Amino acid sequence: MPDHLTVVKHPLVQHKLSIMREKETSTAVFRQLLKEISLLLAYEVTRDLSMTTKTIETPLTTMEAPILAGRKLALISILRAGNGLLDGMLELIPSARVGFVGLYRDEETLKPVQYYFKVPELMGERTVIAVDPMLATGNSSAAAIDLLKEAGATDIRFLCLLAAPEGVARMKEAHPDVPIVTAALDEKLNEKGYIVPGLGDAGDRMFGTK
Ligand code: URA
Repeated sequence: MPDHLTVVKHPLVQHKLSIMREKETSTAVFRQLLKEISLLLAYEVTRDLSMTTKTIETPLTTMEAPILAGRKLALISILRAGNGLLDGMLELIPSARVGFVGLYRDEETLKPVQYYFKVPELMGERTVIAVDPMLATGNSSAAAIDLLKEAGATDIRFLCLLAAPEGVARMKEAHPDVPIVTAALDEKLNEKGYIVPGLGDAGDRMFGTK
C-alpha cells in the first residue's frame, strides 16, 4: 500500500457518512451505517493483498483461478470505538485474528497510557489492520502502532472513518510506513480535540452513551 493517505470517495461511503454526521441520527442507524461503511472501507484497505492461483474445475473446463495467497491477517481494534469498525470487517474477513489495544490519556502528562493489550501470536507474519473511527490528534493512534510494532508487526495499515489533518501529520511523522485509509479528511480539530465538522464522539454515538 504505497500512498500514505487514501480517502475513499465512493458515493455510497460519502452518502452514508453524511447521514452519520447529522446530530439527529439515532444510535441504531449510526451503528448500522458504521457497519456498512466498514465493509466498503475494508474493500479498499485490502485492495493489495497478495494473490496466488489454484487449479480448479469449473463445470466447463479447468482454470488457474486467483485466490488470496493466505498471508495471515490481524484486525486490531483500538478501544472502545474501534469495535464499531471491527464488526463489519469481520463479516468480510471472518477468518482474521483479532486483537485489542486500550489506551487512556493521563490527565497530568496528557500522554496515552496502555490499560489493555492483547494481540494474536506471530504478529510479524501478519498483515495488520488497526481500526479506530476517529484519527484526531493522532497521539493515541501513534502510541497504539508503537505497541503493535513492539509486538513484532511490520506490515501495518490504519483504517478510520474520519481523519483530521493534525492526526494525519502526526501519524506520518511517527509512522511513515503505515498507510491510512479513511472515508473523509475533515477541516481541523477544535480546542477540545474534536474533529470539525466531524460527527461528535464516535464511541458515544455508537454505544448511546454521553
Ligand atoms: N474522538 C471522537 O470520538 N470524536 C472526535 O471528534 C475526536 C476524537
